[in-house]
Amino acid sequence: MISHIFGNLYETGLFTVKQRTTSGMKIAFYSSKGYDREYFEKINEDYGFEFNFFETRLNRYTVALAKGHDGICAFVNDKINENTLRVMDEEGIHVLALRCAGFNNVDLEAAEKYGITVLRVPAYSPSAVAEHALALILTLNRKVHKAYNRVREGNFSLERLTGFNINGKTIGVVGTGSIGQAFIRLMRGFDVKTVAYDPFPNEKLQQQGVEYKSLEDVLSVSDIISLHCPLTPDTYQLINKDTLAKIKPGAMLINTSRGKLINTEDTIEALKNKQLGNLGIDVYAEEEKLFFKDLSEMIIDDDKIARLMAFPNVLVTAHQGFLTREALEQIAKTTLQNLKDYRDGVNLPNQVSAAHFRSA
Ligand code: NAI
Repeated sequence: MISHIFGNLYETGLFTVKQRTTSGMKIAFYSSKGYDREYFEKINEDYGFEFNFFETRLNRYTVALAKGHDGICAFVNDKINENTLRVMDEEGIHVLALRCAGFNNVDLEAAEKYGITVLRVPAYSPSAVAEHALALILTLNRKVHKAYNRVREGNFSLERLTGFNINGKTIGVVGTGSIGQAFIRLMRGFDVKTVAYDPFPNEKLQQQGVEYKSLEDVLSVSDIISLHCPLTPDTYQLINKDTLAKIKPGAMLINTSRGKLINTEDTIEALKNKQLGNLGIDVYAEEEKLFFKDLSEMIIDDDKIARLMAFPNVLVTAHQGFLTREALEQIAKTTLQNLKDYRDGVNLPNQVSAAHFRSA
């Protein structure tokens, strides 16, 4: 039986939480897939939590499934708005463990209002996402996906498979945090010039030859632009009609961060008028209706993604940047350690809260 301490307010550094459980915890997993279950169950051998895996997304309606649980574990496309958080509070669930780095899908003000502690996995494997960005670049550039299909059908022609040397090109990195840095390290092997935009330039990168510039300058000089910043009000549709007009004509744009960094309609226009030479995306603005599902026998009623997929110079993957064995193991470890720290009432290094942003 799970016991709760009600009433007592814990003070943990900056943050106040309403209550903490004192024994084992029962956790409701939303948006869960086979690989989540596999890795979380394996790592849980060291933790002893009780899990219930739900395939459904978390939202104001499905949150009712978590009744009787002590915590919720959610993922990137779960909709954790005020309504969802209010029901969590009503059900006495005051911890939300995100098994991802981004937390743009959580209303942090509402979480604070209802005393819900939000935890995340800040950096589980920056290399996993950086390597996927590189996979998109190489596939798009050398048209490996097309060559694979051609050869399987006995078509050994090389017509229209011409790419370009990455060596000697200028690579623009928007956001030089953990993933941006991992990406820069990988690209160094191609002997490229690296320019970057980040409101907080990294001195070590500067010493290593990375040149920080304004966003406009990064866009205008780069042959390949890779987005590695979080989705915030400042970065929402960072790539739009105006910024697309500034990119070097024919440049390649890669987005493995969040779909809403890009205005899709404007990007389609830039592809049509050939301002944008290639687009590789692992994330899409309206992905919650599509990604992580098998819709192969369905009619896709999202005309924008259908248009994007119709371009020969666009490559779409369905948010798989994180999907490596190492990353899944680290995600499970950090998420369960976050929940253990919460249960044990110790410092919560991976907490995100509205207060955190106000004090930043
Ligand atoms: P991080 O927090 O280590 O780095 C983010 C960087 O972006 C920081 O240096 C920050 O100063 C910078 N930044 C903030 N506002 C900016 C702005 N307006 N313009 C340019 N840069 C700005 O985050 P990390 O771990 O590198 O992750 C980056 C993003 O990657 C996450 O927020 C998430 O959205 C995405 N991601 C995608 C995954 C996938 O599977 N495709 C998996 C994991 C993360």
